[in-house]
Amino acid sequence: MAKSYIVGNWKMNQNRHELNEFFGELEKEALEGGNFWIAPQFIHIQSCIEKTNKVPLKIGAQNCSNNDSGAFTGEVSPKSLKDLETSFVILGHSERRSIFAESDELINSKVQKVLEHKLTPILCIGETLEQREANQTMDVVLGQLSSGLKGIELDSEDSIIVAYEPVWAIGTGKTASPEQAEEVHSHIRQKLKELYPELGEQISILYGGSVKPSNIKDLLEKPNINGGLVGGASLKAQDFIALCKATI
Ligand code: PGA
Repeated sequence: MAKSYIVGNWKMNQNRHELNEFFGELEKEALEGGNFWIAPQFIHIQSCIEKTNKVPLKIGAQNCSNNDSGAFTGEVSPKSLKDLETSFVILGHSERRSIFAESDELINSKVQKVLEHKLTPILCIGETLEQREANQTMDVVLGQLSSGLKGIELDSEDSIIVAYEPVWAIGTGKTASPEQAEEVHSHIRQKLKELYPELGEQISILYGGSVKPSNIKDLLEKPNINGGLVGGASLKAQDFIALCKATI
């Protein structure tokens, strides 16, 4: 069985005061026994990592450069993230693809770079509403998966995580039904088994798009849904705790 995860993607939210409150509430909970990850803004990564001596969370980034160092004003190096003891990096989120015009090739080079530094990439893939309505969902999703993993060798099933996030479900309150999500997840599983015959069955595939405490259980019941990549609901400590508990 692939491992279950709850990964909070805080996007450009949570100031210092808010994240202190968030961690304060988590400290009161017994959250052992699962894989609970948070990706704050870059500037808060270090302070969040310092707080993980009291809460069993791993801290990651929402993006990074595909270069280690050099003249890339405003970029953040995966090597520096490793140096801070960051655990993972979300790559290819639909907001990076649509707002910042990240191509499959660029995302593929970031996956490569992040793996070189032994950080875990969370590769995000997903179709827009127009693509779904034009019956292109599988072509788009499996195309992004193959391109993102082009030439990538994996040491183990834990080396990478895939997140299926239908763009029409992100931040809209419209969750894909567990059946709609599982249909895509099972195709992703099939492709992962083709690409990595030894590991494909065990690689975790998360669902993202308006995941909340009220729908997580039904999603997790599906055989190929191994957890959630959560935006909005991960900002509220009590919702995040409820999501984590649903996976234990
Ligand atoms: P949401 O965001 O949970 O707010 O829909 C998910 C994501 O963008 O990863």
